[in-house]
Amino acid sequence: MIQATFQPLRHMSLAPHVQRSAAPGSLIDPSQWFALQVMGRRHETRDIVVFDLALADGATLPDFTAGAHLEVKVGGLIRHYSLCSSPEDRAHYRIAVQRETAGRGGSVLLCDTFGPGDTLEVRGPFNHFALQWSAAQPPLLLAGGIGVTPLLCMALELTAAGLDFELHFSGRSLEHMAFLPLLRSGVFGHRVHLYADDGRGVAPIDLPTLLGSGMPGRHLYVCGPGGMIDAADRIARAQGWVGDHIHFERFGAPAAQPPAAADSKACEAFEVEVASTGRRIPIAADQSIVHALAAVGVHIPMSCEVGVCGSCRTRVLAGVPDHRDLLLSPEEQAANTEFTPCCSRSKTPLLVLDL
Ligand code: FES
Repeated sequence: MIQATFQPLRHMSLAPHVQRSAAPGSLIDPSQWFALQVMGRRHETRDIVVFDLALADGATLPDFTAGAHLEVKVGGLIRHYSLCSSPEDRAHYRIAVQRETAGRGGSVLLCDTFGPGDTLEVRGPFNHFALQWSAAQPPLLLAGGIGVTPLLCMALELTAAGLDFELHFSGRSLEHMAFLPLLRSGVFGHRVHLYADDGRGVAPIDLPTLLGSGMPGRHLYVCGPGGMIDAADRIARAQGWVGDHIHFERFGAPAAQPPAAADSKACEAFEVEVASTGRRIPIAADQSIVHALAAVGVHIPMSCEVGVCGSCRTRVLAGVPDHRDLLLSPEEQAANTEFTPCCSRSKTPLLVLDL
C-alpha cells in the first residue's frame, strides 16, 4: 500500500454563507468512464478510508449537486460512493470507503491497495438522492454510520446557502463515526447532533422524539443501514411526514435478492418495447429485463442488480411494472412512471420503456 500525506480540501475551511461561484465547464463526459488519480488518502476511522481524487492534469471535473455519487470500477466490480466534498470544489472529488470484510471484496481492495498515484476508473457523478429545500423549511438530515457521506455534502451545500438545517448523525460508537473533527469544528454551527448506540460520550438516537411531527413542506433525507432507514420511514409516516418528502438512500446491497412480489397480477413472461425503435423483446420467466435487453444490444447501465443503487432506473411510458426494488419510495412505485429493470418485472403483458 502506498501511503502519503493527506491534503485537506477547500471545503474544510468553507465559511457559512459562501455562495457557489461559477466554474469553467469540464471537458469530461460524466456518462462515460474516465480515469481519476488518487491524490491523497487517510484513515477517517479504523475501517473508513477517505480518498481525494482528481484528473491527472488538474483539469476541471464535471459539476455535481449534493447527494451525488461516483461509480468506481474496482476488482471487476462497480461500486457506488457518495461524494462528500463540497460541490464548489471542481478540482477534487472526495469519497469515503468503509472496509467491508463481509462484502464482495471491492471496498477491501480499495482500502488495502489504492494510494496516491494510483488510478481509478470512474463514471459520473450521478444523483438519485438530490436535495430539495426551501429557506422556509430547511430539511432534516439523518445519517447512520457511513451513510453520513451524502449528508455531509448536503450539509456543506446548505451551509453555503446559509440555511438553518439539522444534521443528526448516529453510529455504533464515536470511534466508528467518520468526519467528527469537521462536524465538530464549528463550520456547521449548532446544526450537527451526534448519537452513539453504546451511549459513551453521547446518547443513543431516539427517532420518535427526533422526528417529532412532520411539518408541511419539510423534507427528510435518510442514509444509513437498512434497519435505520426502514425505522425512520415507518416512524416519520406515522408521525405525519408527507410520504413524498421522505427521501432515503441505501448504501449497501441487501444480503439476498428482494423477495418476489406476492402480487398474483405479476406476469411470468411478458414483452418490453423500446420506445425509440418500437422493437419488442420477449422477457422469459427466468430472465431479467436488463439481461434480455442486453442480449439484443440494448444496454442499460447497471451496478447492484438488486434494486438498491438506481443505476438502471428507467422511465416507463406504458404498462404497469411489478416493482421489486428497495430504492423507490411507495409513492414513486405507485406512480409507475419509473422502475428498476435489473430486478423488477411487469404486471401487464407489455411494458413500453423510454429507451
Ligand atoms: S442496477 Fe442497481 S437498481 Fe438496478
